[in-house]
Amino acid sequence: MTPKAPPRLGGVVRPPGDKSISHRVLMLAALARGNSELSGLLTGDDVKSTARVLRQLGADISPIREGVVLVSSAPLTAHRAPLDCGNSGTSARLMLGILAGQRFAATLTGDASLRRRPMRRVTEPLKQMGADINERGDGLPLTIRGGTLRGLSYASPVASAQVKSAILFAGLTGQVPVTITEPYRSRDHTERLFVHLGLGIHERDGAISYQPSAVSIPAFKLAVPGDPSSAAFLVAAAVLAQTGELVIENVGVNPTRIGFLVVLERMGAHVERVNLRDEGGEPVADLVVRPAHLTATEVTAAEIPTLVDEVPVLAVLASRARGSTVFREVGELRVKESNRLELIAANLRGLGVRAEALGNDLHVEGTEKPPRGRVDTASDHRLAMAFAVLGTVDGANVKLSEKQSVAISYPSFFTDLKRIRADVPT
Ligand code: S3P
Repeated sequence: MTPKAPPRLGGVVRPPGDKSISHRVLMLAALARGNSELSGLLTGDDVKSTARVLRQLGADISPIREGVVLVSSAPLTAHRAPLDCGNSGTSARLMLGILAGQRFAATLTGDASLRRRPMRRVTEPLKQMGADINERGDGLPLTIRGGTLRGLSYASPVASAQVKSAILFAGLTGQVPVTITEPYRSRDHTERLFVHLGLGIHERDGAISYQPSAVSIPAFKLAVPGDPSSAAFLVAAAVLAQTGELVIENVGVNPTRIGFLVVLERMGAHVERVNLRDEGGEPVADLVVRPAHLTATEVTAAEIPTLVDEVPVLAVLASRARGSTVFREVGELRVKESNRLELIAANLRGLGVRAEALGNDLHVEGTEKPPRGRVDTASDHRLAMAFAVLGTVDGANVKLSEKQSVAISYPSFFTDLKRIRADVPT
């Protein structure tokens, strides 16, 4: 038998459009006056959920696909049936903000995972602004009736871009001033888009304020950059390979999103950023990644909002690093698409790695043993992709409980992973 070649990778790859930005530009284009042209949108299921909900409210949006998507504005109107946000927390929470400023009632719902996720973090401030919200518990389904809102100054107890954005959207649609502070700065895509569109937003001492103006939102053309959260899986695969070099083109490198790269560099990998440019108010670069030997690190609570969706893949990398890595204050992971905190730890243990959630901290002990076993993804796209990457290391045998969930944020993930690597797990 010929010995298996060492895992190597190479080539050039482009991650799909940024999920967070795709939701926001669709929503803003639907609220704008005139015809907007969006390119590079994520074609994943979450963004299709936002488009579906906006269409149900009367927006005219061409099919969500690669290339240009056209959005023609029309005043939003009531829809009889519940608005189905599918698996998408961002659709649900940001739409609540938009609906708070409308003079009709709407019911929001979603799939079983989304119905379990907390909504009070958003409904609480929106109620303080004057929205009438009928909720049975802390989750969907719920009915919101917007209308005449009052301004709000809100200190959010969680660092959440969804909470911040819902309040900014309520200020925008209700035409009232709002100010938000949060314990740590979360992703700032909404703020950047407001600036890009000339809407009255500013930051002072960490407080984000929106001041309404009589000017309506102008129609716009915008190219959405590639999603750093999707690129993270490709970066991780490249770091874990034994030879080769991967170029990942057109990746958003907004500082509120790339804590993953900061931590990875601390662990000993070097990710070059070349061709730095600006797209629609967002910094974009191409990344060049090579294999690296990693050492453990401590990821601090302040860093978590800048890498909140990358904890699964960073935990996977930590399982291949020398030493013991700890992620501080990652309790929020319990209320993502799945209970990620428990599932990361349990799945790593199932593959022979020492890992444990202790209070709100996650501890992962690195090992050189090849990971072998079955992974329960709980239909969570980021768990599926993170563990698929772990399955690419030399000698690994990782079986995923399902693979379809990647359609949420990275429909071509397995094709791309296969293309850049010699070995891919089954
Ligand atoms: C998102 C914000 C984050 C992130 C989610 C997308 C956004 O959630 O986990 O995938 O687009 O605003 P939180 O705001 O709840 O931390």
